[in-house]
Amino acid sequence: IFAAVEMAPRDPILGLTEAFNADTRATKVNLGVGVYYDENGKLPLLGAVKAAEKVRLEAAPARGYQPIEGLAAYNQAVQNLVFGANSAVVRENRVITFEALGGTGALKVGADYLKRLLPYAKLIISDPSWENHRALFEGAGFTVDTYTYFDPATRGVNFAGMKASLNALPAGSIVLLHACCHNPTGADLTAAQWKEVVEIVKARDLVPFVDMAYQGFAEGIEPDGIAPRLFADAGLDMFVSSSFSKSFSLYGERVGALSIVAASKDEAARVLSQVKRVIRTNYSNPPTHGGAIVAAVLSSPELRQQWEGELAGMRDRIRAMRTGLVDKLKARKVAQDFSFIARQRGMFSYTGLTVDQVERLMSEFGIYAVSTGRVCMAALNSRNIDYVADAIAAVLKA
Ligand code: LMR
Repeated sequence: IFAAVEMAPRDPILGLTEAFNADTRATKVNLGVGVYYDENGKLPLLGAVKAAEKVRLEAAPARGYQPIEGLAAYNQAVQNLVFGANSAVVRENRVITFEALGGTGALKVGADYLKRLLPYAKLIISDPSWENHRALFEGAGFTVDTYTYFDPATRGVNFAGMKASLNALPAGSIVLLHACCHNPTGADLTAAQWKEVVEIVKARDLVPFVDMAYQGFAEGIEPDGIAPRLFADAGLDMFVSSSFSKSFSLYGERVGALSIVAASKDEAARVLSQVKRVIRTNYSNPPTHGGAIVAAVLSSPELRQQWEGELAGMRDRIRAMRTGLVDKLKARKVAQDFSFIARQRGMFSYTGLTVDQVERLMSEFGIYAVSTGRVCMAALNSRNIDYVADAIAAVLKA
């Protein structure tokens, strides 16, 4: 049965990590995957996570099945983080949350449920978007289209173009939006622009699906949550996927969540029952450890404070790397103005490097970036930043 099976292409992001791991050069740098490394180039284990894990290990809890929707304390903590504990949707029990296998797992559960709920709806992602968005939603059976988003001239958002795209969508279309730290461009909407987007989505009867994989990496927990909060305040039914891979540095634990806001408590309860069927027939119920750790951190005032401090530390270090790279490229007298890197937010920058330049970074310098020119700023540190700046300057000049 496998004789005619063709070799599939490598994943555009995780495939780079495979190639990076196989590279034997000591100076290699992985600017491909969206992972935060500390100043020593190491994947951090956060102090708040370590403290919560210590307590959990000492308690040595038995490992029964979780509820299909996951740990109640975790789901509640996620809702409070995304919408605010005092928000109307939380107080009125109009939001339901499912512990999911990372942000990707949350997107997939949402996609599978939406396909059952709105089988003929079109799914629209930003141009460009995270490499996996299109594949994931097409895999769930959707026709995926794009809305205008990035402006290569300013390396910011083409907001007029975005509004025109959204205004041209048929009612009932599902719009995938990045809450903050847009992946791959690093170009975000302002608060005022979000308000306009909410108005359009409401007026045109669109269905917002907000992907929030980087809450806390732009400005902080509250300001980065502006999009889901504005949609919820506007009384819209909506989907939100959350990831704690980056913000808790818990990548391999696969800790994420899907939240759905409905019009009433009764409606939410019915939706809950349907989404549980999607999960049950997919992976039955989520794993225990990661969600328990995140819930423990978020429900302890001390650990929460410690975590927010550690998150701010990651955010500030990335910002320092952004300005550092801008300065170092300038010092190397490259022709282009790279100051936009310091304006973009989150882990990524869409650098404008071409496929050929990215290829040369890899083959000549062992520096891995996504072929679209996306680089992960969170993998830079004071020891590799000069090497990376030299390499970028070299491929730009030749
Ligand atoms: C990324 O965009 O690099 C991350 O979200 C990791 C992934 O799963 O692709």
